[in-house]
Amino acid sequence: MKYKGKFIVFEGPDRCGKSTQANMLNKYLTSLGFDVVITREPGGDSVAEEIRRILLDPTNTVSPMAELLLYEASRAQHTEQKIIPALEAGQIVICERYTMSSCAYQGYGRGIDMEIINRLNSIATRDVKPDLTLVFLMSDKYFTERGEYLFSDRLELEDEAFRHKMRRGYREVAAKTENAVIIDADRPVAEIEASVLEEIKKHNILEGSKTV
Ligand SMILES: Nc1ncnc2c1ncn2[C@@H]1O[C@H](COP(=O)(O)OP(=O)(O)OP(=O)(O)O)[C@@H](O)[C@H]1O
Ligand SMILES: [Mg+2]
Repeated sequence: MKYKGKFIVFEGPDRCGKSTQANMLNKYLTSLGFDVVITREPGGDSVAEEIRRILLDPTNTVSPMAELLLYEASRAQHTEQKIIPALEAGQIVICERYTMSSCAYQGYGRGIDMEIINRLNSIATRDVKPDLTLVFLMSDKYFTERGEYLFSDRLELEDEAFRHKMRRGYREVAAKTENAVIIDADRPVAEIEASVLEEIKKHNILEGSKTV
């Protein structure tokens, strides 16, 4: 189904700059008068935020399949309660992480069959597809530099080999996904922002979008 609004997803491994760029785009589009909703996965509404807490708690041991199902439960809730209503209302939705994260983390990272993941993604999203997915890929050397001060959550405790598998996952899945673009996230913030705006233009995100 085609919605009036537009759906932009920021994807990529931990600390690659998704929040930084999503917030900058939100500010920019809002300053132009567009009606924007910014949100993130896992989370996005109160039930999905509860699930997020379980998923990110470093004291929890979560089996790979339980982890996938929790993400998909959170996604179903978030999509139905927040994303679809916003798209129906004609808003621009900016979302940090969506289906591609499950492919990269649970599929390439943890080795769950991709057919299972694709099927669950399709159920949880009711087949809502992003109009643009920006996939941020960053060299591993920046992982520590950009997160030194942070307390690692459960998922950030994964090692370099895991992060390598995920980057490969993102590359391969992005290549097969409609309206997905890889963005070199090693560059300075302003350069990345310019690339993001270029893609917004190329994908006609602002044409016909609602202003407040
Ligand atoms: N292009 C950049 N160059 C240098 N540092 C950056 C760049 N983009 C973001 N940072 C810094 O790197 C850190 C992580 O950035 P940010 O929180 O935006 O990443 P993220 O992908 O949202 O992370 P997470 O996966 O934890 O949500 C922050 O301290 C941020 O200020
Ligand atoms: Mg973030």
